[in-house]
Amino acid sequence: MLVNRPPMGWNTWNTFGNNITDQLIRESTDAFVELGLKDAGYQYVVIDDCWSKKVRNPETDRLEAEPEKFPHGMKAVADYIHDKGLKFGMYSCVGQRTCADYPGSFDHEFLDAETFASWGVDYLKYDFCYKPNGIDGPLLYRRMGLALRSCGRDILFSACNWGSDDVWSWIRSTGAHMYRSTGDIFDNPESYRNIALSQLGKLGTSAPQCYNDIDMLTVGMYGKGLVGTTGCSEADYNSQFALWCMFSAPLMLGCDIRRMDEKTLKLVTNKDLIRIDQDLEARPPVGVFHPWNKKLLTLFKHLDDGTYALGFFNMGEEDAETFATFSDFGLPASAKYDVHVRGVLNGDERTCREYMRVSVPAHDCRVYFAELQKQ
Ligand code: GLA
Repeated sequence: MLVNRPPMGWNTWNTFGNNITDQLIRESTDAFVELGLKDAGYQYVVIDDCWSKKVRNPETDRLEAEPEKFPHGMKAVADYIHDKGLKFGMYSCVGQRTCADYPGSFDHEFLDAETFASWGVDYLKYDFCYKPNGIDGPLLYRRMGLALRSCGRDILFSACNWGSDDVWSWIRSTGAHMYRSTGDIFDNPESYRNIALSQLGKLGTSAPQCYNDIDMLTVGMYGKGLVGTTGCSEADYNSQFALWCMFSAPLMLGCDIRRMDEKTLKLVTNKDLIRIDQDLEARPPVGVFHPWNKKLLTLFKHLDDGTYALGFFNMGEEDAETFATFSDFGLPASAKYDVHVRGVLNGDERTCREYMRVSVPAHDCRVYFAELQKQ
């Protein structure tokens, strides 16, 4: 078994797009270790689209790294990453071309899997652009799933078909370990909220060995980089990261980690939030909207040690008071249990009976660990 917790790492796309080089990867790998991301559980350094030559090698038909970007080849990049105790991820696509118009793996699945294995690749993100008409999308994921299983190396299969063809209903059967369920994220509040809300009722099949991937995080980008747009506030990044954790989604950072600010680092290495994300059972949360303010969402999630996580999200433009009624999560007053809560991003700790009130600033969130206590 390859993956029993949601994968954690960093991916080049959100910030760098086409501007990727050997040097960037080495510097980011160094930062990854120096900043303590590795100690916090992050593992994968992933090069997204735009790494290869524009055409395959005419003699061998194999993909080759673009020498101007990667003058020492991909094996050297893999060795560097492995020497730092990290894992190496790469990118290809089901179609004849990738989304950014480089050669895709269509009809070359087994050859490409062998090439990736020979370079020491540990993770493959597999995109959905340029799929030939008339060919079944799920079949193309099955092909790469088999190719990766038979290439002689353990390679995490990160499917990325943006939720097409009801991906949740068949993706586990391809051998994939995570599956993108939405279109691309952009660095603004609407984007991360819409992505999270779109999957709220669709997390039932996200489970150990194959997790619902709601895209790379924009946390810490502050509007810079390829998907930069307006950027988000600190409050938004708290909410984005906490939502991903409450969903037990893969945590793939997308900012320039070499220039990550203190607050971002503190957030993305928060032990409690990561513990919620990495919960072994990866159960979907119960979601309840405030009765009259639909911008206020409460999530309640079972954890593997018999405790719970409780998240209050304010997606509105004004600070708000919100509440959770415990009977919504299965705890009626007649049970005669209280709920002891301990704040994750703040020091709030108390025992609540039947319901809990919380103030949440605009765009922000409040997250708690919760335990039931007999009255
Ligand atoms: C698609 C994917 C993105 C990224 C780009 C690369 O849009 O959804 O995550 O990989 O392709 O071109």
